[in-house]
Amino acid sequence: MKGVILAGGTGTRLKPLTQIINKHLLPVGSYPMIYWPILKLIEAGVNEILIITNRHHLNSFIEVLGHGEEFSVNLHYQIQTNEGGGIADALISAKDFINQEKFIVLLGDNVFEDSIKPYIQAFDVQGAGARVLLKEVSDPSRYGVPKVDTASRRILSIIEKPSNPPSSYCVTGIYMYDQKVFEYIEAINPSKRNELEITDVNNLYINNNLLQYDILEGWWIDAGTHESLFQANQFLYKSIKRGGEH
Ligand code: DAU
Repeated sequence: MKGVILAGGTGTRLKPLTQIINKHLLPVGSYPMIYWPILKLIEAGVNEILIITNRHHLNSFIEVLGHGEEFSVNLHYQIQTNEGGGIADALISAKDFINQEKFIVLLGDNVFEDSIKPYIQAFDVQGAGARVLLKEVSDPSRYGVPKVDTASRRILSIIEKPSNPPSSYCVTGIYMYDQKVFEYIEAINPSKRNELEITDVNNLYINNNLLQYDILEGWWIDAGTHESLFQANQFLYKSIKRGGEH
């Protein structure tokens, strides 16, 4: 399976750290943030990886990561022309690379503990559709929040940053899609924050009865704010002490 890492966006919530440096190149533990999703994909056996970023940050990524020589994988790059146009907009740039296959997407600011291997295996078995990973969080309003029917193991709908969250779960930035995703992206319109929302795409999968989910067991952080970036460092250093991540 191929992997896509999204590393565009504007990094507004991390200003002034992101004034010059792309968010995904800021230090987390002993590596730039983007190393973590790359290492997760490699550990799961994904070795064709596309990184999508903004035009003016592309060279910085190539300087840091090259074409994957350090990791013995193939790193490819694409530009999101509509900078900050949304997660679903960024994904459009993956269409040629994906070429009709099923694939996994990681948001480059998601740092987490679980191996993604079992989830990819479950998606392989699933056949058509999409699969998302949920995590219970204390502040669901910051995220896409699913309404879940645990008895039937179905997500009924997802609301982006709801003021009244329908559950205490968030939809993490770990998504698995079949080629229908590009059709669904074409069918959605920009949201109030003027982005093509991945939540709208996932709701189309739900409407067609094609979305399945798993729940992450280990810690998970969206390192997109000053506080959560600090927490991501704390989690990683605790894990290093226990002899886990580097
Ligand atoms: O982290 C999980 C959450 O990520 C989900 O629960 C939400 O449903 C989803 O919308 C997203 O929410 P955020 O508001 O945190 O997304 P953010 O704008 O921070 O972007 C997340 C990642 O996607 C970040 O690593 C940069 C990348 N991105 C984002 C945008 C808007 C792009 O590559 N291009 C973009 O245009």
